[in-house]
Amino acid sequence: MAGVISLVTPLPGPRSQALAARRAKAVPRGVPATTPLAIVHAENAVVTDADGNRLIDFGGGIGVVNSGHRHPRVVAAVQEQLEHFTHVCFPVSMYEPYIALAEKLNALTPGTHEKRTFFVNSGAEAVENAIKAARRFTGRQAIVCYEHGFHGRTYLGMSLASKVNPYKLGFGPFMPEVYRIPFPYCYRCDSVKKTPGSCCMASKAAMEQHFASIVDPGSVACVIIEPEIGEGGFMPVPVDYMVALREFCTAHGILLIADEIQTGFGRTGKMFAMEHYDVVPDLITTAKSLAGGLPLAAVTGRADVLDAAQPGGLGGTYGGNPLACAAALAVLDAMAEENIPARAAALGETIRDRFSGWAESVPEIGDVRGLGAMVAIELVKDRASKAPAKELTGKLQAEALKRGVILLSAGTLGNVIRVLVPLTVEDAVLEEGLAVMEAALKAARG
Ligand SMILES: Cc1ncc(COP(=O)(O)O)c(C=O)c1O
Repeated sequence: MAGVISLVTPLPGPRSQALAARRAKAVPRGVPATTPLAIVHAENAVVTDADGNRLIDFGGGIGVVNSGHRHPRVVAAVQEQLEHFTHVCFPVSMYEPYIALAEKLNALTPGTHEKRTFFVNSGAEAVENAIKAARRFTGRQAIVCYEHGFHGRTYLGMSLASKVNPYKLGFGPFMPEVYRIPFPYCYRCDSVKKTPGSCCMASKAAMEQHFASIVDPGSVACVIIEPEIGEGGFMPVPVDYMVALREFCTAHGILLIADEIQTGFGRTGKMFAMEHYDVVPDLITTAKSLAGGLPLAAVTGRADVLDAAQPGGLGGTYGGNPLACAAALAVLDAMAEENIPARAAALGETIRDRFSGWAESVPEIGDVRGLGAMVAIELVKDRASKAPAKELTGKLQAEALKRGVILLSAGTLGNVIRVLVPLTVEDAVLEEGLAVMEAALKAARG
């Protein structure tokens, strides 16, 4: 049966090349270009470029279209909202879609306590605001983040970021009072105590020790953690570590912020990744797949924490734009009615099984990991040294693109291939994409 991939020119085709030439003269090189393609249309998991080439999108616009490109409900909701108004500025005059969406996020996020939600425009801005709120509530200044973490490209985002090049190189000085502790990266953990399912850092004593060498817990406003590290390489936090972290934070009056910007909205097989831990964070940041492709981000959390800021202290001109809120309400309806998180769990199993199968004959696959459909492979030169195979990772991406599949890399060491395919991808399209990946892996290894 014919697949959905259709390549009618070598990639990039002449139209993409022409646009790239204009781009080079109009846009700074600091804005990255993972593919050289100019996209003119997208539908569920398939994108079409300006030359008429059709490709499968395993990157989902970096985790933004968990509900698929142009989900019909999202398109209809935005069109409907367009007929009424596109902006009045929520801090000036309120509108129902903003409040309905805040109510939904308050109900859906982990924990039955009283919550509040407010909206901003990007993931980085949500992180900024969650931390701002944590400082205001606790009256403390220090922020604890993790090695391999990524939280955006603003000054606070960069200050929290672990990877220097490209995120921080030459952009300092960074914010003070940011302290970074080791992330429980099981694949690269040398602990002699290492036992599957048990984290050597998941004890009160280990946490006290990490903090003792860098910052007084009594001065810490918040710890920010990605339940599964995203840009840093798709490492899920071990369950016992997350439980111990919650206990440690509670004992020291520290707020726990779960950054669910990449893990959220069904990706890990649950609506929010924190549901895998049965741990309730004080604040949650979301963005990306919240509004199915429209720019929207949210801070959701304890009412007492978020109500601590004075009127005018939170908000902004565009935050909670009505088109984006309408899109997000449609995304959440689709998630519930199509049971998208359950679909993610099933997709994840299929993808993980396939990757694990390849690993039996491909020694460069050092690790296959991830929650639900937030799956990745870590590529190494050999399994004994675990030396990162960054070059092979790039080759695999390039070979996949040549054959019509967009793949994204990740990892502080640049040696991880992550899957962020729309969770609504049709089975046949997923199979076609995986077959391309397998062929590309073979070609990349030479
Ligand atoms: C976990 C996490 N936090 C924050 C961000 C920043 O989001 P944005 O690019 O929308 O500012 C990202 C983006 O990749 C992310 O993955």
